[in-house]
Amino acid sequence: MPFLVFDVCLAGLAVYLVVRLFGRRSPPLPPGPPGWPLIGNMLDIRTRAPYKTIGAMTSPIIYLRVLGTQFVFLNSIKANKDLFEEQGAITPDRPPFTVAGNLIRWGNAMPFLPYGDTLRKQRKLFSRHIGTHSSLVMLYPEKEAEARRFVSNVLKKPDDLMAHCRTMATSLGLKIAHGYSPKDEGDPFVEIASRIMQCFAVVTSPGLFLADFLPILVRYIPNRFLVGRFRKDLEEGRKLLSDALNAPYQFALENLATGDTAPSLTSRLLQEGVDSEDEEILKWVSLAMYLGTSESIPSMLYMFFLAMTMYPEVLKKAQAEVDAVVGNDRLPKMEDRDALPYVNAVCTELLRWNVFLPSPFHIASQDITYEGYFIPRGAWLLPNIWFLLSDPETYPDPEIFNPERFLGGSQQPDPREACFGLGRRVCPGARLAECAIFICITTSLATLNVSRCVENGVECVPRYEFQEGFLRRVKPFKCKITPRSKKAGDLIED
Ligand code: HEM
Repeated sequence: MPFLVFDVCLAGLAVYLVVRLFGRRSPPLPPGPPGWPLIGNMLDIRTRAPYKTIGAMTSPIIYLRVLGTQFVFLNSIKANKDLFEEQGAITPDRPPFTVAGNLIRWGNAMPFLPYGDTLRKQRKLFSRHIGTHSSLVMLYPEKEAEARRFVSNVLKKPDDLMAHCRTMATSLGLKIAHGYSPKDEGDPFVEIASRIMQCFAVVTSPGLFLADFLPILVRYIPNRFLVGRFRKDLEEGRKLLSDALNAPYQFALENLATGDTAPSLTSRLLQEGVDSEDEEILKWVSLAMYLGTSESIPSMLYMFFLAMTMYPEVLKKAQAEVDAVVGNDRLPKMEDRDALPYVNAVCTELLRWNVFLPSPFHIASQDITYEGYFIPRGAWLLPNIWFLLSDPETYPDPEIFNPERFLGGSQQPDPREACFGLGRRVCPGARLAECAIFICITTSLATLNVSRCVENGVECVPRYEFQEGFLRRVKPFKCKITPRSKKAGDLIED
């Protein structure tokens, strides 16, 4: 008997040694900064702009670990295309955001949904309504009207520029989604959108909440044990979400009942008739349109005014092109787009210069071997969009706003390859955003002058500075905005 035990142990040891010697070994993990015992790279991730620190490392693929969570940052366009397009079937999922998804209950909002049937249904409905060329052409008059209203508001109160950018964009989203037209000032739905996006930026910052790395901490703790500021923030987040999801939808329902309906996604589908599952999808898709427009478009527009204040020579050139093509007797139209290459280059440079979503999150749903490195299943995959569009090898002097990058013979790569994300989670609002930005910018160029403020006899040149985080918001700056001529002012108010 003792011999039998000894034989079994010996055989087990032999099998172990054979497997160690000849068995398949996992390739190494991608390179990355050294971490600390236990917390790993928590200090690298907790900075306000991890994508910058990580972009400064030389490898196109960087690995970090924080407690039990693994992160892989992708710093080259090739790595992003390979992993999100070629291997798109195993990389479109999202990580489980414990705070945003479970605690604030944003789990059904499109950006947080896991890749599956519900997401596909939401994206399909979104795309049907605003993703095709014909659906966008139908919205041209709406966008032109919003652009005119925007300029009119700016002329009345130029110091409230950011507020006007928000009102314009949120108004576009609310009209398309719910047929709701907000007030020029102090509109409750514009206010909700602004507060919810601020909350979104906070709760999606990786590393901000320990809960995202140790989900078990909160998943099993009853609500009443969550205390202090944390609990207050969560309750506020939930209330804001419930208001944003239900209040504009209720507005659309009531209007439908009274027959006073502006055409919108909600009114069209309700008229067609929806069952309760479809109604749920419709509510979340409308929310994605309402909130998606309310952050991205204002951020772009505000940056446009910053760029024009910092670079007056670009403003002059763009205005000269608009004057030559559009003239002084009418306002620009969407149809003028192809005839305005310099203005288009300004819009393209804005997409590069203002990366407002620097590094979205995906998750690997299987083990992946890529370029000799092992990416474990469950690792967070982060396309480092900020770095792709600020890499001095690709875009010399990246902090300078220079539309010429995209004109003439040797053009620099189109930022659209990266700025809207890649693969199956690519931004579904990209085309709408580009049209809205183009018409607002062109209408502003035709009718407004933008210049630097003078304080104590000194010209103030604003700085290119951001509030860093999951969403990069440009810091407030001062500029002087006046009508280009009386005629321009009259055209706006006609
Ligand atoms: C210039 C403006 C915009 C930029 C640069 C932008 C950029 C992005 C990026 C980088 C992503 C993440 C893609 C990924 O996960 O890989 C995204 C997702 C998304 N965007 Fe945009 N976006 C813009 C405008 C809009 C607009 C106007 C809307 C709404 C009408 C919108 C709605 C969404 C939604 C719903 C998602 C989540 C998609 C999903 O998770 O499947 N975006 N956007």
